[in-house]
Amino acid sequence: MAARNAQLPTGERLQKVLAAVGFGSRRTAEDLISAGRVTVNGDVAILGRRVDPDNDLIEVDGAPIGVKPDLVYYMLNKPAGVVVTSKDTHDRRTIMDIVPTEPRVFSVGRLDAETEGLLLITNDGQLANRIAHPSNGVDKEYLVEVDNGAVSPGGLRRLRDGVELDDGITAPAKVSQPEPGILRITIHEGRNRQVRRMCEAVGNPVRRLVRTRIGPLADKTLQPGEWRHWTTDERNAMIEAVAATRLRGSE
Ligand code: URA
Repeated sequence: MAARNAQLPTGERLQKVLAAVGFGSRRTAEDLISAGRVTVNGDVAILGRRVDPDNDLIEVDGAPIGVKPDLVYYMLNKPAGVVVTSKDTHDRRTIMDIVPTEPRVFSVGRLDAETEGLLLITNDGQLANRIAHPSNGVDKEYLVEVDNGAVSPGGLRRLRDGVELDDGITAPAKVSQPEPGILRITIHEGRNRQVRRMCEAVGNPVRRLVRTRIGPLADKTLQPGEWRHWTTDERNAMIEAVAATRLRGSE
């Protein structure tokens, strides 16, 4: 008889398990599943799948999920002159002189010694790689003071459309000039000294460079040299932002 054979679904919904261990909201987890990035015991999972988290092997992008109790996430307002490295060969002040060094952490991407502003520091290698992905990372916004007065309309157009640099043309950027000689530039690439080289290429070398936002993270109240932990909401927002760029990138 049908009623006797009917089985109640067992296990937990996969998206709920993913969200619980830090893969963003359930919606983000559903997107990961729909994109075919989640496997259960080696098989690509479909939406609606139920799992037994204690016994099933659940992987995202080939990496087993697990509770991540030892991960730390800091944001620092890096002052000019502080070097982004774990040990400076010239004995200059480094970011590791400012943030806790236990557990061992590293920066998410880099800022030049003279660049100021938001720097993320963590021991979560997977998230760090996704944020700083060279061609498909999250947006980074910079406030830039340039030399030689206002950037010309032609210069602004080139910055927006793509500038020819010695390592290739830059991807389209969002660029506004709120005041003559002050630019707000948003890029998602992370090439070495990219903003400085872009501005130099249009004839307006950078005088001062401040990173003001990385994806959803920004904090105007953090003073130069101050750091703090991300909030849970910030971490979830970043996981969602990274998932969105990856889904966009795989289209
Ligand atoms: N672009 C630069 O030129 N320098 C930085 O530090 C960051 C972005």
